[in-house]
Amino acid sequence: MISTKIQSVIRDIHDFPKPGIVFKDVTPIFKDAGLCLEIVDAFADQLSGLEIDVVAGVESRGFLFGLMLAAKLNVPFVPVRKPGKLPFSIVKKSYELEYGSATIEMHTDAIEPGNRVLVHDDLLATGGTAVAASELIQELGGVVAGYAFVINLDFLKGSERLREFSPNIVSLAS
Ligand code: PRP
Ligand code: HPA
Repeated sequence: MISTKIQSVIRDIHDFPKPGIVFKDVTPIFKDAGLCLEIVDAFADQLSGLEIDVVAGVESRGFLFGLMLAAKLNVPFVPVRKPGKLPFSIVKKSYELEYGSATIEMHTDAIEPGNRVLVHDDLLATGGTAVAASELIQELGGVVAGYAFVINLDFLKGSERLREFSPNIVSLAS
């Protein structure tokens, strides 16, 4: 099963980036090309039937599978970036993280009004990042079609915050 494979390669790092946090290190996934392809196929399978016009991937780890998935689905990929990185006109949103606060930005022409946007990130923790990305998508006139995460840290209940935007929440491991 793909969840077992993912669980077997990710590792827990204690007290990173702050004391008390047990951080899931996903970097070993990227060393296994076969597993990366399986992950993209699993996303595509579990999202089949869902109308998706655009994949929005969140900096930085959401870029890695985000572009692969967009290419697989044959739709555009757009980046959701940390502050000060996007050169064109932007919309931005600040929010709280599991371990601090953050701001994300999107280009104002990233999506067309009415586009159905899949939000992708490597990991769902509190959901703050995905909620902020969803709010930016709505501000640009888009519709959140669903979410795709490699890992969902269930105990933080992030998915409960996402249901108001879309009930379509795919994750491959926890
Ligand atoms: C991590 C992760 C998600 C977010 C999840 O990113 O990749 O984007 O935190 O947390 P949340 O559900 O509580 O919002 P991080 O800010 O560590 O940035 P990085 O991907 O650039 O390492
Ligand atoms: N691992 C990786 N990224 C994260 C985590 C984690 O445990 N929590 C919030 N972002």
